[in-house]
Order: sequence, then structure tokens, then C-alpha cells
Amino acid sequence: MGSTAELGIRLNPPPCVRNHALIAWVAEVAALTEPAQVYWCDGSVEEYDRLCQQLVEAGTFRRLNPARRPNSYLAWSDASDVARVEDRTYICSASKEQAGPTNNWMAPKEMCGILQHGQPDGTPALFKGCMRGRTMYVVPFSMGPLGSHISHVGIELSDSAYVAVNMKIMTRMGEAVYGVLGTDGAFVPCVHSVGAPLAPGQRDVSWPCNKTKYIVHYPQTREIWSYGSGYGGNALLGKKCFALRIASNMGHAAAAQSGSAPGWLAEHMLILGVASPAGKKYHVAAAFPSACGKTNFSMLVPPAGFEGWTVSTIGDDIAWIKPGADGRLYAINPEAGYFGVAPGTNLATNPNCMATLDRDVIFTNVALTDDGDVWWEGLEKDTGALPDHLIDWQGQHWTPALAAAGSTDGKLRPAAHPNARFTVAAINNPALDSAWDDPVGVPIDAFIFGGRRSSTVPLITEARDWVEGVYMAATMGSETTAAAGGKQGVVRRDPFAMLPFVGYNMSDYFQHWLDMGEKLAAAGATLPRIYTTNWFRKGADGKFVWPGYGENMRVLKWMIDRIEGRAPGHAHVFGVSPVYSEINWAGLDFSSAQFDTVTSIDKSAWQAELKLHSDLFAQLTHHLPEQLPATKARIEARLAA
Ligand code: GTP
Ligand code: SPV
Ligand code: MN
Repeated sequence: MGSTAELGIRLNPPPCVRNHALIAWVAEVAALTEPAQVYWCDGSVEEYDRLCQQLVEAGTFRRLNPARRPNSYLAWSDASDVARVEDRTYICSASKEQAGPTNNWMAPKEMCGILQHGQPDGTPALFKGCMRGRTMYVVPFSMGPLGSHISHVGIELSDSAYVAVNMKIMTRMGEAVYGVLGTDGAFVPCVHSVGAPLAPGQRDVSWPCNKTKYIVHYPQTREIWSYGSGYGGNALLGKKCFALRIASNMGHAAAAQSGSAPGWLAEHMLILGVASPAGKKYHVAAAFPSACGKTNFSMLVPPAGFEGWTVSTIGDDIAWIKPGADGRLYAINPEAGYFGVAPGTNLATNPNCMATLDRDVIFTNVALTDDGDVWWEGLEKDTGALPDHLIDWQGQHWTPALAAAGSTDGKLRPAAHPNARFTVAAINNPALDSAWDDPVGVPIDAFIFGGRRSSTVPLITEARDWVEGVYMAATMGSETTAAAGGKQGVVRRDPFAMLPFVGYNMSDYFQHWLDMGEKLAAAGATLPRIYTTNWFRKGADGKFVWPGYGENMRVLKWMIDRIEGRAPGHAHVFGVSPVYSEINWAGLDFSSAQFDTVTSIDKSAWQAELKLHSDLFAQLTHHLPEQLPATKARIEARLAA
């Protein structure tokens, strides 16, 4: 490999960059990937505007009508690059056992051969020359408030300007990060390429990517290497790759280093604040799998019957959670923006989100209206009608008639991709919690785990204790969604909503949660309550029975009543659930019979469900905490009684 000087690549680090390890690493990656130039992002508004303008000129972005959607852009991805690619995602720990059976694994040396060094048979490394003809952006970012003891710095080197501007919204990105790094601060190195080098004079496409994709994590060196995709969690490496897969390793290692230290948790959780009319504030962190309602729940507007209650957003996707000196668990949102699902969002389901999206948004894979605005499935509920004409996310004409033509299932061909998303800064959210940016975090009163299940799982259950809560989270099932490639609507186990995001052995992750509870309880702390929810049970007509969205407040209120000792509930095989009269039904017509439809426990369905728990445990035998099969045996005994 030649040096950057030999290759004629000028590094030109700005004077504020004083970290020698960083400069050496940028030089090394530039020498490997051979970009035409290196650009160090400063994170300024001027830079954001300039890069967005460049993306407009390149055909990646379309500027939306400023009269309708100021300072906003629309991007359409390649049709093959629309979601996370779980089958191409690897945890390259030293041993396969450390990655565990739920992760794809390859020996680090072998993976380095494929990506960085070239293979023994002479096959060149994928990253060799992969940025030719492109700019390599140096993107400095902090996950969490700058300089907070909970925060961590990352540097993403990417050949995509789309990534650079999205990272500006999603993270604290900019020059101040170099100040935090100083001369020898540590950072998580993240290398990203769309895998589409340009030959001299070659015209670029609007969404460069490669059909070969690798999303790779090296836990030992805490490095991330991502190749071939420009989309979401594949490419915005601060999010799932760093804040979940690498950070879960960091939090676990912090406990493993010293037997008595509890370490910390990196979780796929929203964080919300909920204040009662009397002004008492609670904080809840909720893990729902991808596209199962986190953003919506975090921005919940209390419905009629809840006058005086307010819900505020701390985070909508990821929580870093650490014990405080008082023994309580404190959560921060490491992100600074939302990369949220557009379809289904409207004034009825999520008015706060709609207000958040009024301006300063990057939309990806939604449809374009004739007046230069955006559209997605669900917005017809606001206007009462489908639009007459759109350009769909693939650039094709869309009318209701065209969308109906050729449909075999009676459904219209969607104008927006089901995983179409918006990127928007948290500060645009009118329901943003005043403590969202507090480096200390907020104390958690309750954890919720909730899957997407058409049947079997009841609306709401409280675990009797921490271990039972960990059991319910560990065995959670959910139907797959468009957030990841592969078949949709298939029930799979998704422990803690973290199946694609735990960066180490799942059994060790369960143990980490159990140990956390044990250590905090031993120190005399009151542990957060643990709940499981399911908003998605369907009736015989195939429709959701529970109205969901803002109405989920009724369930949230019951949890608070439990915390305050005001709701006895009724105990059953899995835990405690509300009786009909314990829910505030003011303003909602929901009968006791309907309530039974979403809360009933079908014995034979649960016997089948427990077999699936057995299958999961059979997969996870290595290091599986013995409390889990023991808890299962107790549930089985109750079910048989
Ligand atoms: P990721 O960003 O992928 O992690 O997703 P998320 O968990 O934040 O999910 P989000 O809130 O974006 O919701 C995903 C889809 O589920 C959207 O189409 C929503 O309209 C729908 N949804 C959210 N909450 C509810 C609910 O309470 N009931 C029903 N029926 N659908 C919901
Ligand atoms: C998810 O899939 O859970 C997301 C979207 O939040 S992505 O950023 O693509 O991972
Ligand atoms: Mn998510």
C-alpha cells in the first residue's frame, strides 16, 4: 500500500485536530481507500447547507418546496438498498462463542483479509481503492452530550455526503469533538464506503451502493467497517453499529473488568418522561423491536380523559443506562436526532411527530407530491383522500388507479417504501423533554418490552420481580418488519428487542441484566418495574383491536398506578395484569369484551409459545443463566395447574 503522499492525497487536517492517533488513522484509511480528496467536517450550518446543495446538484437530493417544507430534502435510494441487512452484519470477536449463536461471526483475521488486507488467494481487499474519485468525509461525532462522563466519541470516515449530512442531524457532530479528543483521547473508528469507486470521467449515479455488503464490528479493537450500503443503520454508524453493538460490548466489559462493578447497558429503547396533573414526574424506557412503535410512544399525546398529564421525549430509539451514586438507573439518549419511520405517521397517530417534520428534514424513500412536498401511506387519513398523482419512491408515476392495477392482494402498491424514513433534529420536537440533553440522564422508574404479535401476548403484564421481567424480555417474540431485509410478518424471538443489536453472546447479555439487578438490589436500590406490552393483537376481522398510539396512555397510567400501589390488578401465570375497571376509559369507547380480546391468555397458544422459548434456550445453552429455565419451569407449572 502506498502512502497518502505517494498517492498524491493531501490530508490537510485543520489546526484544531491535535490527536496524532486520529491523523495517523485517517492517513492509513486514505492510503487504503484512495479517495480523490479528504474533507474534515466542521459541523457548521454553512457546511450542512453546502453539502446539501452538492447533493442536489448530484441528483441525490431534491429540494422540497420551501413554502410547504422549508429547508427540507428528499432522497430516493437504490431499490436494492432500503433497509438494514442483518444477514450481512458481523460481530468479529476473537472467538465465535463471544459473538454467540445469534450473530454472524467470522475470525477477525479472515474478515480483515476480505475488507482491509486482501485474501491469501490474491483477491484484493474490498476497501482497496473503494473511494477512488470520491471525497472522504471525516465526520467527528459525540454519542451523548459533549464531554459528559457517559458519552463516547466516534469518527466516521465515509465517502458519502448523504451520510455526512445525516450524521450532522443524528449526532452531536462538529469541530468541538476534536477539542474533547485533545491530543490523546480515545474514539471509536468507523469506516464507511458505499463501495462504488469512480473511474476518471465516470458519471456518478444518484444513490451509489454495491450489491456486496458487509456491516462489520470488531469488538476487541472497537472498530466498525461498513461496505456497500448508504442506508440508515448500515451507514450512519453512530446508531446501531456504535451506540448498540459496540456500546453493548463496552457496557458489558465495564462489568467484566471488575466483578463488583455493575457496568452499564446500551439498549434499543425510547426514553420518555410522564408528568401527572399533580406534577409528579416518572421516566420510562421501552424496548420495542424495529418498526414496532418506539418513536410513536416517545411522542405520545395523552388522549381525552387525561387532562393535566404530559408526556415528553428524551429519546426515540437508543438508551445508554448507568447506575447513579444513589443506586438508581439513569438513562441518556446518545443520539441528537430521529431517523424515524414515515408510513403510518399522521396527525391522528402522532401529531408531535408531524409538527417535528414541518421543516429542516431529510426524507428518504417517501413519495413526491405535484407541489413539491412529500407523501406517504397514512397521510390520506389527514386529508380524507388519496392524492390524485404522485411520483413514488422509485421515481414512477403513481395514481390510485395505477397503484391498483396489477395488485393481487387488493392493496394499493405503496407510493412510499414501507421503510421510508425521515431524519430530523430532536430540537424540532415540540414535546422534547427539558432534560433530553442532561449529561446526568433521567432516573428510570419502569422498563417496558413490547413485541408485535397478532395473537397470544396480552396487552400489558407486570413482572413479579426483576428475574421474571428479564425472562419475559429474553423470550419476547415479534413479527418481522420492513426495517430489515428479509421476509416480513414472521414471528421470531427478539430478546430485549436486541436480536440484531447485541454485540456479544446473548446468554452473557442476559446474565449482564440479571447481575445488574442483583448488584443494585444488594446495594439497597429499588429496581425499576418491568412490563411487557403488545399493542398489535388482531381480531377475527384481521384488524388491530387495541386503538394504540395516544390511547397507549391508558396502559402507561396503569403502570404508574402500580408503582404508586394504587392498582392491585390480577395475578396470572406470567405476572400481574389490570382488571377492566383499573383502566381509565374516559373518552374512549372500549368494552369489557374488547378488553378481553386483547388481554385473554389462551392456554394452548401459550403451551406452543413456551416451546418456542425452549427452542431459544436450546440455541443459547452456552452460559445460559440458570434462572431463565428455572423461571420457565415455574411458568409451566402454573400453566399446567
Ligand atoms: P425503528 O425506528 O425501526 O426502531 O421503529 P420504532 O420502534 O420507532 O417504530 P415507530 O414508532 O416508527 O412505528 C412503526 C410503525 O408502527 C409505524 O407504521 C406506526 O404507525 C406503527 N405503530 C406505532 N405505534 C403503534 C400502535 O400503538 N398501534 C399500532 N397499531 N401501530 C403502531
Ligand atoms: C431500526 O431498524 O431499528 C432503526 C432504523 O431504528 S436503522 O437506523 O436503519 O437501524
Ligand atoms: Mn430502531
